Parts: sequence; C-alpha cells; structure tokens
Amino acid sequence: MSYEKARKDYTKHVLLEHDCPSSPAILLDQWLHEAHSDSIDSNAMTLSTVGQNGQPSSRIVLLRELTEKGIVFYTNYNSQKGREMAENELVSINFFWPWIERQVRIGGKASKISAFSSDEYFNSRPRESQIGAIASTQSQTLKLRETLENRVTELTSKFEGQDIPRPENWGGYIIEPNYFEFWQGRASRLHDRVRYDQSIEDGQWLISRLYP
Ligand SMILES: Cc1cc2nc3c(=O)[nH]c(=O)nc-3n(C[C@H](O)[C@H](O)[C@H](O)COP(=O)(O)O)c2cc1C
Repeated sequence: MSYEKARKDYTKHVLLEHDCPSSPAILLDQWLHEAHSDSIDSNAMTLSTVGQNGQPSSRIVLLRELTEKGIVFYTNYNSQKGREMAENELVSINFFWPWIERQVRIGGKASKISAFSSDEYFNSRPRESQIGAIASTQSQTLKLRETLENRVTELTSKFEGQDIPRPENWGGYIIEPNYFEFWQGRASRLHDRVRYDQSIEDGQWLISRLYP
C-alpha cells in the first residue's frame, strides 16, 4: 500500500464557536450520539497513561458514563494502566470517529470511583464478563491460554447458582477533564479546532480556536 498517496478531503461538517455549548461535556455527548453506530464501538477511546520512567502508553477502553464531572471507564486496578494511574493521575483521552471526520482530545486527572458505583456496574454485566474479570490478572504474563480457560471453567462451576462478587481489584475510574479539544475535519486541511480550558478561578470553560 502507498501511504504517501492516501489522501482524503474532509467536507462533512463544520465546527463554529457560536455552535459550541458553554459545557464541553454537552458537546462531547452530542458528538458521541452523532458517532453512534451499531457496528462500531463509537464509545471506544484511546487512554494514555505515563509510567514511572516517563514512558507514555496508550490503549483502547470503553466510555461507560459521561457527566459534567467526567468520563467513567472500568478496568483491572492492577493492570499496567491501573499501576500507572496510581503513580501519575494525569492522563489523556482521544476519540477518533473517521466516519464523521472528528477527533476529540481530552486531558484530565484519573481517580477511582466509589466501591458502591463499581459494584452497581459490575452487577449489571453479563456473568461471562464478571467471571472474566476475576479470571484475568490483566497485564500479567500468561504462559498458556489454556491456563486462563481452565480458570474460567473452575470459576464458572464455583459460582453456579450464586451471585458473583466484584473482585476488589476491578472497578471504575473517573477522568475529570481540565481541557478538551474538538477537531472537525475541513476541506484542504483547514480543519476546525476548538479548545475548552477550565479557568482555575471560577471553573468556567474558556473557548478558543486553534490554527489547524
Ligand atoms: C474496542 C476495545 C475496547 C476495550 N475496552 C476495554 C475496557 O473498557 N477496559 C479494559 O480494561 N480494557 C479494554 N480493552 C483492552 C485494552 O485495550 C487493553 O488491552 C487492556 O486494558 C490492558 O491494558 P494495559 O495492559 O495497558 O493495562 C479494550 C480493547 C478494545 C480494542
């Protein structure tokens, strides 16, 4: 494939300041709705964390809740990302929806949500996912896939006919954003970029336009 020649012009939408709500969470919610697709995880976001040695690391997780306070996702607290967020609460999130020519970039601070809220979400998951969360010591080395599969079989019979309790090392994080950047692809690479920065004084969001 010739990557040099791959070239696409973006003409589907525009992003103008006067269409931007005062709250970036409202605009993100609107864009998530517009990105919705039955065949693609439009709530998939790239989460970047930074390890102790300063090395950033990115992976996809699924947004499970969006409020004015922040963005919630669920994972294993002892995974690589969990360990990195324990060392450094500053994270970055990126959404990319090529079918509507949009990107959203968010910076914020990660913290664990309450055990009560994690329990509520865990209890709403399919049993197979609950067992998977217990069976997987996420991000640890697994010599044989069979070891994991055997553990799933063991746990499935252990919990037969019973509620499955949430393991303490699995739960939610909330990312409380301090900036958002909404990127709308435009023709001839003259894209729209609107940034929201939260004022330290009164918490209001300040909107500015960036050069593409
Ligand atoms: C579409 C998609 C959705 C995913 N959603 C999650 C998720 O919500 N939580 C999670 O822990 N991992 C999720 N993963 C797996 C992560 O990308 C990653 O492999 C895993 O969390 C381990 O990351 P870590 O070793 O950096 O902690 C998802 C992967 C994909 C491709």
